[in-house]
Amino acid sequence: MTVKEEIARRRTFGIIAHPDAGKTTLTEKLLLFGGAIQSAGAVKSNKIKKSTTSDFMEIEKQRGISVATSVMAFEYMGKKINILDTPGHEDFAEDTYRTLTAVDSVIMVIDCVKGVEPQTRKLIEVCRMRNTPVVTFINKMDREGQNAFDLLDEIEKELKIRVRPLAWPIGIGKSFKGVYNLYEKNLILFQGDKKSVIEEYVKIEDLNDGLIDKLIGADFANQLRADVELIDGVYDEFNVEEYRAGKLSPVFFGSAVNNFGIKELLDSFIEFAPTPKERETDEGIIDPLDPKFSGFIFKIHANLDPKHRDRIAFLRICSGVFERNKYYYHVRDGKQVRFSNPTAFMAQDKQVIDEAYPGDIVGLYDSGTFKIADTITEGKKMNFKGIPSFSPELFRYVENLDPMKTKQLQKGLEQLTDEGVAQLFTKKTDGRKIIGTVGALQFEVIQFRLKGEYNASCGYQPIQLYKALWISCPDHKKLEAFMHDRANHIAHDKDGKPVFLAESAWLLQMAQEKFPDIEFHLKSEF
Ligand code: G4P
Repeated sequence: MTVKEEIARRRTFGIIAHPDAGKTTLTEKLLLFGGAIQSAGAVKSNKIKKSTTSDFMEIEKQRGISVATSVMAFEYMGKKINILDTPGHEDFAEDTYRTLTAVDSVIMVIDCVKGVEPQTRKLIEVCRMRNTPVVTFINKMDREGQNAFDLLDEIEKELKIRVRPLAWPIGIGKSFKGVYNLYEKNLILFQGDKKSVIEEYVKIEDLNDGLIDKLIGADFANQLRADVELIDGVYDEFNVEEYRAGKLSPVFFGSAVNNFGIKELLDSFIEFAPTPKERETDEGIIDPLDPKFSGFIFKIHANLDPKHRDRIAFLRICSGVFERNKYYYHVRDGKQVRFSNPTAFMAQDKQVIDEAYPGDIVGLYDSGTFKIADTITEGKKMNFKGIPSFSPELFRYVENLDPMKTKQLQKGLEQLTDEGVAQLFTKKTDGRKIIGTVGALQFEVIQFRLKGEYNASCGYQPIQLYKALWISCPDHKKLEAFMHDRANHIAHDKDGKPVFLAESAWLLQMAQEKFPDIEFHLKSEF
């Protein structure tokens, strides 16, 4: 197979959902279809259970287990599918945002009972930043959920994305009969309980065919006819280009736990989901067909065994062919690197690979050389864009509890924040260090890991902060003047970029009004 053909058969995507909508269940069913796992329940271990939210070690352990399920690759109908797992726990939202930088599209799962939920909103915001194409799967149709039209309206309004149903549900909850595939024009009948599901396909050329009445009853048949008429009147035809531009989301309905509607989703998905896309760098656009290898690190996972401090850095391949044992260029470090054991993750297995193609994810054993967003190339000096840090939501001052271990503390903080566990800011005036996170759990994780892996003790002091915003201004003097005026509220991030520490929304607004030329950014890339 040529490189071009290898690229054309790849589909690299993530599944996004508010916790409990059915992401794990859907992932598992997709793997079952791909023959990548043999039985249901096999990927459950990747899920952070709600009962243990306060037990962060347990969560870290589960996160550790989830290394194996970070990427789940399998073959299906001649296509190479790479599913990138995103942690469901909201305290690890930042991990999820970064993982989304490495996908070419997403499947969004919505619980038909609950509709659009907070985490869904945040994740779609992240997808919008890169115009990531979104397929919507409305799940749990076996439960008494909301009316399908209302759900679609809610998605359009709340997530600001247009939708186009490609299948339509007949009934819901106890009376759920199945779905009508609007394009294939067939009826897929649902008969099942949790244990056995029978999917029956019936080709329906004409919706007025009396056979439908026989199969699902006259009331449901008439309702379906009326619904389809309304759909054709309200929604434009499905346009694949608009979908690929991230403007239009095709919608499917089903029930993941019952394995219903999954095959239709997967079969359509592999048809229209984008192949590995071109990517932006500070030196211009890189096409996947560019013969020179390039890729970036989007996730780093620490080894939880304190005796082995090696980590796994996850590399997304963007162009060319990645080869084992070949020397590559680590752009930030300016050094040559070589990997003797690059690993590919299959559903439950991992294996050392000799080569990988654009769209693939490779795990690299790393002893501290990598930082999130590092670029690796065949020699070109460039950096991939679009892997920003986001303003954290929780902040604390770091306190060194053991002055004899200052160096260890520094190194530990440096490495943990390289891994993306949290963000580190240094205040301009007094050099105090501030840790910013998305979830409260990370503070405990950091303390625990500093002790276990670096033998350093850290404590925290409260700090009243609303946001940390990156600041810029085309006029350097004006930026200097602002930083001088608000010196007490200025810090630098790990890369030395200036950040404004806003104590409240009101104080931020004041600063914006007084210094209209200064731009305030919620992410580190602007
Ligand atoms: P998540 O990864 O998005 O957090 O969700 P997950 O797949 O774990 O699903 C959350 C719960 O919803 C699970 O129940 C799962 O069985 C259930 N579920 C998933 N799909 C469907 C569906 O189509 N219909 C119905 N009725 N339920 C569904 P649980 O009780 O939390 O776990 P379990 O004991 O069933 O494993």
